Amino acid sequence: MTPPLDLSLYPPHTHIDHEGFLTLAGCRVADLASQFGTPSYLVDAAGLRARAQEFQDALTSRHPHGRVLFASKSFPTPSVMALVAEGGCGLDVAGLGELLAAERAGVDPGNIVLHGNAKSDAEIAKAIEMRLRYIVVDNLDDVVRISRMASEPVPVLLRVSPGIQAETDAKMATGHDASKFGIPSHQVDDAIRRIRSEPLLDLRGLHAHVGSQILNVEQFEQAVAALARLERFDVYDLGGGLGIRYVSSDTAPSVEEYVDRLVGAVHRHLGTDVEVLLEPGRSMVGPNGVTVYRVVTVKRGVRTHVAVDGGMADNLEVALYGQPFEPSIIDKAGRIEVCDVVGRQCESGDTFVTDHALVDPQVGDLLVIPATGAYTFTLSNNYNGALRPPVVFCEDGRTHLAVRRETYEELLGRDQL
Ligand SMILES: Cc1ncc(COP(=O)(O)O)c(C=O)c1O
Repeated sequence: MTPPLDLSLYPPHTHIDHEGFLTLAGCRVADLASQFGTPSYLVDAAGLRARAQEFQDALTSRHPHGRVLFASKSFPTPSVMALVAEGGCGLDVAGLGELLAAERAGVDPGNIVLHGNAKSDAEIAKAIEMRLRYIVVDNLDDVVRISRMASEPVPVLLRVSPGIQAETDAKMATGHDASKFGIPSHQVDDAIRRIRSEPLLDLRGLHAHVGSQILNVEQFEQAVAALARLERFDVYDLGGGLGIRYVSSDTAPSVEEYVDRLVGAVHRHLGTDVEVLLEPGRSMVGPNGVTVYRVVTVKRGVRTHVAVDGGMADNLEVALYGQPFEPSIIDKAGRIEVCDVVGRQCESGDTFVTDHALVDPQVGDLLVIPATGAYTFTLSNNYNGALRPPVVFCEDGRTHLAVRRETYEELLGRDQL
């Protein structure tokens, strides 16, 4: 029987080799699991670099005055930032930690923008010192802080709410007027006046971000139309938000379709001369990562619970947004059993998926979840004393341990008994 594993959800350089082993960028996943342990985050490095290039080319071939800024919150490690920069992209950072990671990655500060709805003085100071491309003003307190700390003009954008109720989980919707991010449309004119009253704030343009995991491209077009109803500027940062496929039944717009429609809307509503920035996160890195686990217990009772050695400590997306995933047991054939795939953290909500077909689940099997490149590492935590997993880049049969596994010494290292 064919194992229910949909390779179209996996990174581009994934295949089943001639002996039936799942192989990522020339590396057998089973070998990676032995070498680096489980759970581990595995990244198709060439796939990610190519995706960055694809985004940047899609934008500049249609609109030369544009730059794709990877939303680094979706996978905030220097190695990932550096890889995406190799593909020609800059970064959006939202915090001093991400900014320091970007600095360590060697990303050109002229290609970095700083976000945040509660920026600290320290991150504003660092952004000014590094001369980032823009600081995105989210609120009027930012105006006070940035101007207090500036000694020469600081280029800024103003984040506005485009007034759009995003078609996504409520926790990922940010484009409506009640959002904690940005300035609601009816206050934008006042905010612009306030910024302009500060001689050291150089207001260059507007920013809008509708939300995340958005599969209907029309919503991005609506955001552009909403920006066009405000005062006109030279720079428009249109945020991120493009959704991806997590399970076989999902459909998602391609990068080409997304950029084509977005640039079309910019040209119709804002003109062809403006600078355009895009901030994809999930759609950049999500499809290029998988997580490998080992099955620890198989409990056949009222339901069949297949429990793995990870869970909501390394993938919070299910608990946070109810994100469906499509795990598969790899490297074996056999009878199909309908199971609930669960994690090892002490929450009933620590369940990856229910009523899911797995191939003959047994203790010791390897289980892989595709489309876990975005926001899994980001949200990883120490629930039940879990150690945060390593990040392994795979390319042409070689591996690079981009982030090693956390140790128990590190876990307890901050404790001062
Ligand atoms: C300002 C901003 N830009 C970009 C992103 C990236 O969004 P996504 O990962 O959905 O592309 C986010 C995330 O929510 C964001 O808040």
